[in-house]
Amino acid sequence: MNKVTINGRNFRIMIPENEVVKIVEATAEKVNAAYRDSECAPLLMCTLTGSLPFMGALMTRLEFDPQISCIKVSSYSGTESTGKLKNVLGPTIPVEGRDVLIVEDIVDTGITLREMRRMFAEMGAKSVKVCTLLYKPEKFHAQEKQDGVTMTEPEFVGKEIPNAFILGFGLDYDEQGRCLRDIYVLDE
Ligand code: IMP
Ligand code: MG
Repeated sequence: MNKVTINGRNFRIMIPENEVVKIVEATAEKVNAAYRDSECAPLLMCTLTGSLPFMGALMTRLEFDPQISCIKVSSYSGTESTGKLKNVLGPTIPVEGRDVLIVEDIVDTGITLREMRRMFAEMGAKSVKVCTLLYKPEKFHAQEKQDGVTMTEPEFVGKEIPNAFILGFGLDYDEQGRCLRDIYVLDE
């Protein structure tokens, strides 16, 4: 399937499934290199719902056995970030005193990440790091400029992508397209 149409919007393939697998493997290797010999495994924090496939694929490639927790924050409606977090659920395991490794599907403006780092720090996490499948650095740095702040970039990145709306492998357009195995980009 090279194209999909959802709610009248056309998406074309950007990262085929076999490449997604390679990106996951390379990302898992970075995480393994950082933690395989460490005495204390981080608490892996899956951000629902979009990170489910990435989290599942990543977990099975780890060479250590961390605890897994889930959280749901929502900042998105349609194809544009609203800049506000809502519907917070979890974390399902307390983060106090823990090294938290957030597992994200995508870092776009970075607002969600900034808020989550702040939230986990307030909850008493010892440290907070981020592993994301996809990262839009242009959008991230534009947001920093707009807000006049410096934000910490994600520590582990699968692939940097340009500013565009992405779909598939967990990522949705109005709650559709999450089960697509390839990653698609909005065709405009
Ligand atoms: P941010 O706060 O702008 O960095 O966006 C964070 C969340 O918005 C991500 O975790 C995704 O759930 C969602 N998001 C950002 N960009 C995209 C995209 O291109 N497609 C689908 N969802 C996205
Ligand atoms: Mg997300």
